[in-house]
Amino acid sequence: MEILVTGGAGYIGSHTCVQLLEAGHDVVVLDDLSNSKRETIKRVEELAGKPLRFLQADLKDRAVLERTFADHAFDAVIHFAGSKSVGESVRAPLDYYFNNVYGSLVLFDTMRRFGVKKLVFSSSATVYGLPRSCPIDETFPLSATNPYGRSKLMIEEILRDLAASDPEWSIALLRYFNPIGAHKSGRIGEDPNGIPNNLIPYIAQVAVGKLPQLMVYGGDYETRDGTGVRDYLHVEDLAAGHLKALDRIRSAAGAEAYNLGTGKGYSVFEIIRAFEQASGRPVPFVVTRRRPGDVAECYADPSKAKRELGWEAARGIEEMCEDSWRWQAANPNGYDAEPDAGRRSS
Ligand code: NAD
Ligand code: WQD
Repeated sequence: MEILVTGGAGYIGSHTCVQLLEAGHDVVVLDDLSNSKRETIKRVEELAGKPLRFLQADLKDRAVLERTFADHAFDAVIHFAGSKSVGESVRAPLDYYFNNVYGSLVLFDTMRRFGVKKLVFSSSATVYGLPRSCPIDETFPLSATNPYGRSKLMIEEILRDLAASDPEWSIALLRYFNPIGAHKSGRIGEDPNGIPNNLIPYIAQVAVGKLPQLMVYGGDYETRDGTGVRDYLHVEDLAAGHLKALDRIRSAAGAEAYNLGTGKGYSVFEIIRAFEQASGRPVPFVVTRRRPGDVAECYADPSKAKRELGWEAARGIEEMCEDSWRWQAANPNGYDAEPDAGRRSS
C-alpha cells in the first residue's frame, strides 16, 4: 500500500515508519519538523534499508496537502502530526486547537475530496479524563481535563460524525496509553525538547547525568506504594498496532476506538527500580507534591484490540527500560550532534 504518514518524523511515527517500510509499504512522510529532526528520517531509512519520501510541510497548508494528494494515490493515512504537551496546551490553548483540530480538518477534508477514506488516528488515553475505575475499556465515558485532551476528543468526535455521514470511511481511533522504549538498535527514540515532562525521558536524563534527580509527583495516592500507576507500553508494540489497524480498516467500515496498552499498571517507584536495573545507574529522587490533573491509576483493558485487531503488547517493562536506556546512553543529546563534535581539543 502507499501510505501517507503525517508526523512520521516524531517519536511514535518514526518507529511506525520503519515497520511500514519493512512490511513492504511505500511511505510518504509529511512533517513540519516542529518537534522532530530531519536526522530521524535518515536513520529510519538506514534501519529499514529502504528510502521513503519526506516532505517538510505544515499540515495546515491546504495547497501543499492538495499537491501531495494529487501526486500520490494513497491507500490510507496514518495521522500522528500534532502538538502533545499538556502543560503547553493550558498556556496556549488556541495554538493547540489550531494545530491539532484545524490541522486535522484540513487533512480530513483533503482526504474526502481525493476519495482517500481510510485513516488511523493517534488518539490517547487522555480522552477518558478522570476514569472512574481501572482497567479502562472503550465504553468508558469520555471527557477531557485540559486543552490537549480536548483537542483529541474533538477530533475523535469529528471522525465519528464523518463515518456516520458516509459508509465509505473506515477509521481506527487508537487510544495510546504510555508509550516508552525505543528501537532495539538505539538509533531512534524519544527526543524531547528541553526538560522532559514525562517520566521515562526524565529518568533517563537523570541516569545519564544530565539532570540531578527525579521529582516523584505524589507519594500519597491510594496505590500499592503511594505513587501513580500507569500502563507503559513499548513503542515497538505500539507501532505494530498501527499495522494491525491498517489491516482492519481495509475491510471494516465505520469509526472504531481501540485501547493500545498492556493492561498492566506500574508505579513510579517500580519504574525507577526497573530503570536502575536496566541501566546499572542510580536514579536519585525526592517525593514532592502531586502534579495537578494527575490521576492515581490509569491502565487499559486492551482485550478489544486483541479480539478485533489481533494485536497484543509483547514486550515487558524490563525490555522497555533497557531499550530506553540504550537510546539515551548512545544519544545523550538526542538527535543533535554532541556539542563538542568536530571541535579539536588543544
Ligand atoms: P512527536 O511530537 O514526537 O511527533 C509528532 C510529529 O508531528 C512531530 O514530528 C512534529 O514535528 C509533527 N507535527 C506537529 N504539528 C505538525 C503540523 N502542523 N504539520 C506537520 N507536522 C507536524 O509526538 P509522538 O509522541 O510521536 O506522538 C504522536 C501522536 O501520538 C501525537 O498526535 C500525540 O498527541 C499522540 N499521542 C502521544 C502519546 C505519547 O505519550 N507520546 C500518547 C498518546 C497519544
Ligand atoms: C507518568 C507518572 C506522574 C514525571 C501524559 C499525558 C497523556 C499522554 C501520555 C499524550 C505519573 C509521574 C512524571 C515526573 C513523576 N500523552 N511523574 N515525575 O501523565 O500518565 O500521561 O503522557 O496523549 O496525555 O498526560 O505520563 O510520563 O507524565 O507521568 O513522578 O517528573 O509519572 O505523576 O504518575 P502521564 P507521565
